[in-house]
Amino acid sequence: MDTNSPKSKEQFVHSVFESIAPKYDIMNDVLSFRRHKAWRKFTMKKMNIQPSNTAIDLCCGTCDWTISIAEASQTGNIVGLDFSQNMLDVGKVKVDRANLDRQIELIQGNAMDLPFEDNRFDYATIGFGLRNVPDLKRTLAEMQRVVKPGGMVVCLELSKPTWQPFKGIYYFYFQKILPMLGKILVKRYEQYKWLPESLAAFPGRYELADIYREIGLKDVQAYPLTGGIAALHIGIKER
Ligand SMILES: C[S@@+](CC[C@H](N)C(=O)[O-])C[C@H]1O[C@@H](n2cnc3c(N)ncnc32)[C@H](O)[C@@H]1O
Repeated sequence: MDTNSPKSKEQFVHSVFESIAPKYDIMNDVLSFRRHKAWRKFTMKKMNIQPSNTAIDLCCGTCDWTISIAEASQTGNIVGLDFSQNMLDVGKVKVDRANLDRQIELIQGNAMDLPFEDNRFDYATIGFGLRNVPDLKRTLAEMQRVVKPGGMVVCLELSKPTWQPFKGIYYFYFQKILPMLGKILVKRYEQYKWLPESLAAFPGRYELADIYREIGLKDVQAYPLTGGIAALHIGIKER
């Protein structure tokens, strides 16, 4: 699969998520050994959302994080944005089931070109999405643009463990076993092979923190999660 040009990467990623949407949540639990739940919990704690805070959740997919943010904010308007209608459809069922349909607005759109004015939200978040966009700096810059001065740009994403022997064992699982599980469990080999491929081209924890600073975000914090297989990055828009 040619994912070298920005357009073909975007089209390929779109087709991946359109195809795996109905099985995305269950596969997330299986493939991460449910670790993603702990990572999301830790992230929410660090975000410290207050009642009535507003947020945009980019690449919201099936809306797990969007829903947690809405619940923490209680009354604030929360936007979930994703370019896969199939992922949004799964998310919409969950939003309705949680009775959050008046608080959460779901929009089909591109993370690199947000349809909102500057300084609109208290938070901009992206969960396991930044690895998938063709231009991560542009996406982070868009997040920075739409948050208010003092607002938070938050990225929860897979990352690169550095210490052996954990690193070796993890990469064996991630590169060899995980795509096979995708093939066996949901008949999607190419789609799950994309996961390790997308991480290979993605910056490590320190590099991503540097990119946060490069685009002008302040007080940048980067937390390794589960031995560095994921990382949480937080930056604040200058007041
Ligand atoms: C791995 S899923 C993450 C879903 C969700 N945030 C979560 O934490 O489970 C990545 C999502 O990013 C979306 N996505 C990828 N590139 C995008 C883009 N350029 N614009 C909008 N959504 C995009 C995909 O459709 C998919 O739903």
